[in-house]
Amino acid sequence: MQHHSILCSQLLSKDFIFAAVRRCFAKEPFKAPNSRRNRTETRVSMEKGGLDSAGREFKNAEEMWREQVGDDHSKKTEWYRQGVGYWEGVEASTNGVLGGYAQVNEPDIMGSEAFLKQLLSERFPDSANGQRHLVVLDCGSGIGRVSKNLLIRYFNEVDLLEPVSHFLETARESLAPENHMVSETHKATNFFCVPLQEFTPEAGRYDIIWVQWCIGHLTDEDFVSFFKRAKVGLKPGGLFVLKENIARSGFVLDTEDRSVTRSDLYFKELFRQCGLHLYISKDQKGLPEELFAVKMYALTTELPKKVHRTRSKVQANRPGVIK
Ligand SMILES: C[S@@+](CC[C@H](N)C(=O)[O-])C[C@H]1O[C@@H](n2cnc3c(N)ncnc32)[C@H](O)[C@@H]1O
Repeated sequence: MQHHSILCSQLLSKDFIFAAVRRCFAKEPFKAPNSRRNRTETRVSMEKGGLDSAGREFKNAEEMWREQVGDDHSKKTEWYRQGVGYWEGVEASTNGVLGGYAQVNEPDIMGSEAFLKQLLSERFPDSANGQRHLVVLDCGSGIGRVSKNLLIRYFNEVDLLEPVSHFLETARESLAPENHMVSETHKATNFFCVPLQEFTPEAGRYDIIWVQWCIGHLTDEDFVSFFKRAKVGLKPGGLFVLKENIARSGFVLDTEDRSVTRSDLYFKELFRQCGLHLYISKDQKGLPEELFAVKMYALTTELPKKVHRTRSKVQANRPGVIK
């Protein structure tokens, strides 16, 4: 059985959604997410309309958030209760946390590994010879799928944060020393059973804070407030990695698991509000065609110094031709 989730709920209604998106934005042709836009255009992205999983249209994100959480504390509590409540009813397995798409695990881990290797070699070159003690926080870790299959191999310490206790207990068991997942130098240290909107990390503990397939559960306000608070948890030069589903335009609200899939421009506007800078981003390849596109973003608290080599720079380094 396929679970309704971040991954597949929108999948089930994708054809409908895209038809509706086309209907919704018929007057505005779809533009590639990486097309050049200025800041004003980016801000306008939050003004774009969106849909919910039942096909209801919203004028803009503000209208959707006003309706979903309003200013009323109890409505917001209910939003988060339903989000966590949804996952409490899901089996603690790879298939469960991937919405019935266990086959996504392999390409996901491969894509993340290539991204992580690039980040480690560029940002922490001293980690290659074991000179740096690497620590990561896996946010919304679920059963510890990403920690177990990827992070524990590269980081000396992995902390996991997950509000659903049966997921976190499964993670704790699979990362236990008796399951040979850890060694003296690579181990899972802390298991925090709290939601992101209530968490503040220990100051200066992490090289990377990894946030995958869970930020859609946070309202825009809590998204911004989480990243602003979590900056203190990074070591100097540390990074956030955000890996998420991407809506083609505006947003898609899932009314069953209380999550929002945002567009690339929507995310970029939130990064700006958090005071975060995009270091690099990559598209995840090899996922089933019917699923949402997935992007990985590496974000820094300081303006990135490294300028990634551009075509013009490559050409500028070529020997001159005397004509
Ligand atoms: C699609 S699963 C992804 C799990 C894991 N990141 C992975 O990639 O395997 C979404 C996870 O987000 C968690 N989650 C839901 N609401 C959350 C919140 N407010 N804060 C942190 N995590 C949350 C769920 O419990 C679930 O484990």
